[in-house]
Amino acid sequence: MATQNPSPGSSVLDRVLVLEMVRVTEAAAIAAAALVGRGDEKAADAAAVEAMRKAFDELYMDGTVVIGEGERDEAPMLFIGEKVGGAPGKGPKIDIALDPLEGTTITAKAGPNSLAVLAAAEEGGLLNAPDVYMDKIAVGPGYPADIISLDKSVEENVRAVAEAKGVDPSDIICCVLDRPRHEAMIAKLRALGCGVVLIGDGDVAGVIATTDPETNIDIYMGEGGAPEGVLAAAALRCVGGQFNGRLLFRNDDERERARKWGITDLDRVYKLEDLAKGDCIFAATGVTDGSLMAGVKRRRRSNGDRVMTTESVVMRASTGTVRWIKGEHRIP
Ligand code: FBP
Repeated sequence: MATQNPSPGSSVLDRVLVLEMVRVTEAAAIAAAALVGRGDEKAADAAAVEAMRKAFDELYMDGTVVIGEGERDEAPMLFIGEKVGGAPGKGPKIDIALDPLEGTTITAKAGPNSLAVLAAAEEGGLLNAPDVYMDKIAVGPGYPADIISLDKSVEENVRAVAEAKGVDPSDIICCVLDRPRHEAMIAKLRALGCGVVLIGDGDVAGVIATTDPETNIDIYMGEGGAPEGVLAAAALRCVGGQFNGRLLFRNDDERERARKWGITDLDRVYKLEDLAKGDCIFAATGVTDGSLMAGVKRRRRSNGDRVMTTESVVMRASTGTVRWIKGEHRIP
């Protein structure tokens, strides 16, 4: 049963709801964890989707999925437009972007950095991005405004970031999805002497890595999913950073999908506030070990109880608060 928000009116994204969002990503991560390394991407995704769907029902909110598992005819659960939450018509109206398993292939192969992830915002706060590719560039906080731009070349962006950091372009570390489509870009980065961190999947974590000095990653660049772009943008809205994204269309069907979601300027460059505006929340739980947090683990307490441990982060844009949460969940 969804419990009623104890301080209604303080904000649509009430403090209670911020913390509760972690339960949702924890549930998805725990469900997916049972399938880590089992070679079955679909089963892992389905388990995460089902668990996340169920966990939403515990929250006192009137939620709508704006970025989800696909359109209604493609996805049985968590499809775009689906209502989620335990208080339809009564609770705060909240838009949700979600990816119950960001990194299905990673999970199937037991690789690093797969996450259960969601972003939530007041109604209308998140771009209804179609499931197409997006050209992305991101840096963490602390740089002058508009230091990066998709209208600049790879070399210009790297030089601008290097100059602002007071280092040589060859000291810049760039994270890129390891895909044949990025070969030319990687060659340009290597010609500048940059370090290139190639990731197999999971560009939400790749973008967020730019905000964490521990990773050494300065810039994220390249083409990945547009929905993942909105999720990463919500995280950067909370912790600072800059982002440019431009939708990429491979055919008329994809252009039509975008128009259907109200996108008229197909060449537009989206910045953070265009993707996630107003107050928003970002929550993620590690499925497998990664640069942001550890994945789900099994262990036994000294009293003999068997537990699953989780590591999560939840952040809120309006306050800039970032909470790292470790959970121990008793296995019945
Ligand atoms: P899935 O979890 O849907 O498999 O997405 C993983 C991912 O690597 C995303 O992080 C990224 O945005 C996208 O796939 C890149 O797409 P592609 O694998 O087609 O290059």
